[in-house]
Parts: sequence; structure tokens; C-alpha cells
Amino acid sequence: MLRKVKKILKDYSEYRKDYESAFSLFDKNLDVDLIVTVYDKSGEILKTTSKNIDFKFHIDNGNVIKVDGLLKELNYYDYLVNFLHKIASAKFNKKVSKYLADNGFENIHKVNPTIQELTEYILTVRKGVSYFQGSLMSSIVYHLFKKKDFFYNEMEPNIRYHLPITYMTRENKKYAEKRLSTGQATVHGPHIDSWFWHPYNTINVWAAIGKITKHNGLWVMPNTIGIAPKYNEKKHIEKDEYINHDNVYVTELQQGDAIIFSSELYHSSVVNETDISRLIISMRMTLDRPNFFNTSEYLYDYRKVTFQDSPLPEIEKISRKLSKRVPGVIPFGIGTNNENKVKASELVIKAEEDRIFVRKGLVIEGYAHEIGENIILIGYQDKYYAFNRFCPHAGADLSSGGYIDEGNLICPWHLLSIDLNGNSKCGKLKKYNVDIIKSTLVIHKK
Ligand code: FES
Ligand SMILES: [Fe+2]
Repeated sequence: MLRKVKKILKDYSEYRKDYESAFSLFDKNLDVDLIVTVYDKSGEILKTTSKNIDFKFHIDNGNVIKVDGLLKELNYYDYLVNFLHKIASAKFNKKVSKYLADNGFENIHKVNPTIQELTEYILTVRKGVSYFQGSLMSSIVYHLFKKKDFFYNEMEPNIRYHLPITYMTRENKKYAEKRLSTGQATVHGPHIDSWFWHPYNTINVWAAIGKITKHNGLWVMPNTIGIAPKYNEKKHIEKDEYINHDNVYVTELQQGDAIIFSSELYHSSVVNETDISRLIISMRMTLDRPNFFNTSEYLYDYRKVTFQDSPLPEIEKISRKLSKRVPGVIPFGIGTNNENKVKASELVIKAEEDRIFVRKGLVIEGYAHEIGENIILIGYQDKYYAFNRFCPHAGADLSSGGYIDEGNLICPWHLLSIDLNGNSKCGKLKKYNVDIIKSTLVIHKK
């Protein structure tokens, strides 16, 4: 059996030792009982411990499960951090690797690595991590899902390293996306994973290596299995779709915490507005045979992992099976009937060359409304604000779910905060003057 593992790893001799020693971390006898919090579309619904909940039930129901201290309690956290240091000392000069050892990986941008150095680093870490991630996932399936026969592991885990947005210049972004693909060092737009050819019965495990705040992590919309919005060829949601952020879970995690959710839930990276780099490991598995849609352009490498009496699980390469998109998974609009979406034709009384007149009474507090001519309007605390319709970060349509939180306009894609003067960490959003004349708002286009 060990021979089989070695065969799979024949290309990876450099890290074979790490891989084998990592598998020895998977301890079937650990007494695992972690604090878990379950979120559904109404917010937190359950706080309990991992021994007392059925993970599969909650995943199948589209809930998001937060597990406190997952990497630490399963004994992988130190292993992973040591591994990151080992690679850092090989890839960066002595001064940088010492700085990282003293200050943590979340401060990497403060020593200004070049994007080339950083990319090389991520590529090497990613390659190395892929050799012991199977062990970590085995432990998760065994101890949390309490499935003790087999599962299917995706052999391509990701290390996602997002520098603060102010460090990510256009050139750096271009370079990182070319070498690493989108989402590794730059943000993903809102999506479900089967848009990107993942099996539709996949479960995502997204674990924090560094601390994650609401302004550098991920948002996930619970209970959206089968109701993803329409998307275009760029895998962006269509313009007439709406993202209702009332129901969204946004990560806030300590080092070692993780969230687990169905990859068919609508989710997105959050743009990193903090001054710390965000470092996470994300990985996927299926409890049953992976089901790919027959539109899949790329088939991810899933291996069947069977638990045995010996310490190392058996890993078997499987053939892939394609399915048709099944009814119920055909995308239709999230929030199509959303009450916060009032049509421009209802709001606008008339549009002149320089001005747009809007019915004040129809403006819903705290939500961005489209009023035509690429202008949005927001009412907040009896004041009204008009802006350009497209986000300065990556051009999201702010009228498709932009909302006010803590006095800022939040973009529905990656949650960029834009203040009500139009300033943001990604540049300025054009602002227009608004006058209130009795029950009418007058927006001055120039
Ligand atoms: S925050 Fe990314 S497009 Fe708006
Ligand atoms: Fe994803």
C-alpha cells in the first residue's frame, strides 16, 4: 500500500518525506470535539460541538459550518506553519525569512517582496502542500463527518495569499493571475464552483492560516444550492441579476479556524482592505463519487481515499464520470423577486439632459438603485447620494446589490467599502449632486 502512495508521488520526490510524515499526523484515536457554529440564511442557527452535529446534513441543506481551531486541534497547524517557514527560507533571502519568522506571514508585504518572488513562493508552497493535504482531509472526514470508510479527495489544494489591495498594482495583478490563475493571489468574483468545472457534489474546506477579518476573507451565501444567478461567458453574473447581501455569511476567523460549505453555494473573495496579508488553505472533497457536469472543460483530479487498519490510507486513482446538469441546478436568479430591487422605470419621473428626477418615496433606505445613465442612487439617514454605477475595484454593477453598512456603500462583489464622498481603497467613485425638492429628488448629471 505504501508502494501505491509512492507511485502517486513519483514526480514529487522532493517532498515525499513531508508527505509521509504528514500522513502520520492523521490520528484515528484523537478525541476531537470542536466548537462549531452553523449559519443558514437567517444568520447563526446553532452553536454546538463537532461530536453533536451531523456535518453532512447541514452541508446538504446549504448551511455554512464554522469550526473553531480545526487545524490546531487536528495537529496540522504547526506542521503547516513550519512548512511555510521551510519554503520561505529557501525562497527568500535570510533577512526576509527571519522577518517572517518574527512577524508572521501576514506581514510579508511590509518587506516588499517582488511579485515574482512572492509568486515563486506560493507556487512552491502549493506544490508542497498538495502532498500532505490528503492527510488533513482524511482527518476532517474521519473526525468531523464521522465517515470511516472512504471519500474522494481533490488533489489540487490551494494556498491563497492575498496582499492588501493597496499593494496589488495592476501589473502585479496581471503577473500573479498569469502564473497562479485567478483567486490565488487576486480575488475571485461571486461564483459557484461548478461554473469552474468542479463536481457539483463538492464540499469546500476553507481554513485560516493567518487571521481573517470581515475585510479580507470570503463571503458565502447560505441556502443557495441550485439557485445561482445567470452568468455570462466571463463567469460574471449577468447585469440584471441581484445579489441580496441580507443573507450573507462573511468570514471572521482566528488562525486555524475553518469554514466548511457546499461548493454549490454562491460565494466570493472579499477584497483585502486591511493592512495584513490574508493567508488561507482551501481544499475540496466529495463524500460520494465526484459528479462533474458534462459541460466540464477541465476535470479535476479526484482520488479515492480508503481508510484501513494501517495508519496510511489507501489512495486510488479513479475514472471520472460526467453528468448532465440536473434540474434544480440550472441557474436562475438569486433575488429575482427581491423587494430591494425597484426598477429604474418606476423610480424615475423624467430624465433631462442635465438632470434626473426621482420619486423619493420609492427609494429604499440603504440600497443602491439604478436610475439610468449609469448612475445609482442611495438613501441613507434622510440623505441621498448619487454615484457612478460601476465599482472602482473591478467594475461590478453597484445597482445589483450594493448596500450601506456602517455608513459606507459596500460593493456586492468583493465588499469594497466606498465612503459617501466616493472615496475607496481602489480609487474614487464619481459622485453627483442631489437636491431634495419636496417628494422629488433631482440628480445633477454634470
Ligand atoms: S469590490 Fe470588486 S468589483 Fe467591487
Ligand atoms: Fe469557489
